[in-house]
Formats: sequence, structure tokens, C-alpha cells
Amino acid sequence: MAALSTQIRSIVDGGDDGWGILYSARQIQAEGKEVLILAVGDHDFPTAEPIVTACTNALNAGRHGYGSIVGIPPLRDLIAKRASAAHGIDVAPDEVIISMGGQAALFAASYATMDNDAEAIVIQPYYATYAQTIRAVGGTAVIVQTSADNHFQPEIETLRAAITPKTKAILTNSPNNPSGVVYTRETLEGIAELCREHDLWLISDEVYHSQVYETDHISPASLPGMRERTFIIDSMSKSHAMTGWRAGWLICPTSDAALKVADVFLTSAYGVAPFIQLAMRAALAIGVEPEHEISQRYRLRRDIAVKALQASKKLRVVNPDAAMYVLVDIRGMTHDCEGFAEALLQATNVAVMPGKSFGEATMGHIRISLTAPDTILEDACTRIASFADQWNQV
Ligand SMILES: Cc1ncc(COP(=O)(O)O)c(C=O)c1O
Repeated sequence: MAALSTQIRSIVDGGDDGWGILYSARQIQAEGKEVLILAVGDHDFPTAEPIVTACTNALNAGRHGYGSIVGIPPLRDLIAKRASAAHGIDVAPDEVIISMGGQAALFAASYATMDNDAEAIVIQPYYATYAQTIRAVGGTAVIVQTSADNHFQPEIETLRAAITPKTKAILTNSPNNPSGVVYTRETLEGIAELCREHDLWLISDEVYHSQVYETDHISPASLPGMRERTFIIDSMSKSHAMTGWRAGWLICPTSDAALKVADVFLTSAYGVAPFIQLAMRAALAIGVEPEHEISQRYRLRRDIAVKALQASKKLRVVNPDAAMYVLVDIRGMTHDCEGFAEALLQATNVAVMPGKSFGEATMGHIRISLTAPDTILEDACTRIASFADQWNQV
């Protein structure tokens, strides 16, 4: 039988990439038992009603045909205005490409920047698909570690040491999943300097930029000389509770780059469904209130979760600056975060993500998604704290 391509076989290079806990939790659920899944970044509340209505109105009005491959003009226009205002940069509508969530934007940006055998520097901890996406387009992901002791801020000299003649891009994610860390201006300026010095692209995943609490989000595209070398990944999955809609976009460095990136969508999904795009437009036309409301909800939950977890003598909990997760350091007890998460699931019926899923940098950590109503979340975190305090007896 003909063999599948080496490239496709290399995307996921063996193992379950840390999703084992989720499968165990679903198995327990299938057996009819109650499980609280705090392992994925999916909201426990639905998309706001006006967005759903805009979609059903479009469907009822017969918007069933092909849409525009790169996005309907009023949506591209709105996003360009919004990104210009939010990030302090100039974004033209024809630099915006509507994509099937942030993931498709990430794929397109990777495709646009990687030649076969090119390298992309990927900073750990990272969102689980990063290295896979780089491999999917034929590139090599060169992993650079950050450490909990340095609050997961990348060290510029370590990044510099990872650059080779094959390096084409650096992939950053600030605000970061899973750490909730926002890169400082100093860190971003250091990364920008490397990109300028070595003529690299920057792929900047900013899907959590609306969920920043005590600090400010800085888009690296706003730094000197960076607009024309930065691809910005954005999405409504987290900001508007729209994970299942697959509603995102890519802001390209130039309109010429966008014309070429359009070919990735021409030859793959052929654009986002028109009724989804009309719902996206309706949501963004409301203004920033819906995303502020969701951000405030997660901020409150973060405070509830952190307080409950800090009751433990064994857990080390750092207040995240952003996003919808709390990363908990369990190294005082064990580095085996998978074993800990599995034992926690069996003992408490709460599923959390082992830090290993996001790379070596978060070994000895667990990530708790804040995706349960306040009282349920508080109860789950209290159970996690007392489980940790009894860990030696487990
Ligand atoms: C950092 C990061 N980037 C991208 C994505 C993908 O988002 P989307 O649902 O928009 O494809 C996620 C999803 O969890 C994420 O955490």
C-alpha cells in the first residue's frame, strides 16, 4: 500500500501529547459518574444571544452560498479598525484575513514563513499545537525553554543562541497559555531586536489579549520596525466565548503578504462560512463590552481559584496576569505532573491538564482552566488544595 507522506506522519510525533487525562475523564463520564473537566480552554457559558441571533438571521435570510475566501469587506474593515486602536498600529482592511479560528491563522502564518527545512523558534511553555503546526508545514520547531523561576519570561540570550542560518521565524504567545504571563516590554523589545538583526518573521499569537488583568498587553507589531515583519494571530474563541464557531483572523505584515496568504485558504477551506462571518461582524460591531464582560468574569474566577488553592501548604500558586487558567507549581511534591493529575482525577473527579502537555518548561505543574461557575470552581480548587496537602499519604 502507498505510504502516507513523511510530513503528515511527523505532525504528531507519537504519544498522546498530554490529552490522556482528558480521555480518562471522558471515560469516567461515559461510566455515568460526575467529572468536572477543568482541562480545556472551553467556556462553560454560551455565546451571547445577539451573536447567535445574527447567525440564525443570516441563515434564515438564505446566506448559504460560498462566502468570500479572505473575508467579507465590512468584517475586515471592522477588524482593521479595532486592531489599529487596540495595538497602536496601522492595519489596512486588505491585510486582514478571516480564518477558521486562531489555529487556521497560525497554520497560514507558518505556511507563509517556513520553507522546507526552515526552523522556527518556539518558546516553551506553549499552546499544544505549536510545534505540530510548524511540522505540518514542513518546518522544524526549535524549542527554547523559559523557567518558572524567571516567571516564564524568555531570556533574549537563550533565544539568540538558538538562531541558525535556517531560522525563519520566532513564534510568541503573550498573553501566554498556559502560564498566564504577559511578556514585559523589555522582553518584547529584545525579541524584536533579534528579528530585526537576523531578518526574521515574528508570529505573534495574541488570542488572549482581551483577558489581561493587572498589566497592559503590548503587541510586538507596535515596536519599531516590527509591523512589516509580524503576523498577528487573533480569534473570538476566548474573547467572545465562540470556540466552536471557528472564528478568527490573521493580520498580515503587508497587503502583498495577505494576497499570498489568501492562497492557503483558496486551497484549503475556501473561506469561513458567510453566516459565521456575519455573526462575527455583529459581535464586533457591539464594541468592546462583550469581551470586557467575559474578561471580568475570568478575573473574578482567577481570584476565587487562587485564594482557594493558596490554602494549601504544598501548592505554589502565582497569580496569573492574564487569560483563563491558573498554573500551579507542584514541584514541592513531585515533578510527575501526569501522575499527580491522574491521581487527582481518581480521588476528586476533577480533571486538570498536566504541565507536561505544554512542554518541559512546565513539568511539575498543573494547569487549571477557570471554566466552571464560581462556586463549583471554588469547591474544585478547595478539593485540589486538600488533595495536595494529603499527597504523601496517597
Ligand atoms: C494560545 C492559543 N492560541 C491559539 C489557540 C487556538 O484558538 P482557536 O480556537 O481560535 O483556534 C488557542 C486555543 O486554546 C490558544 O490557547
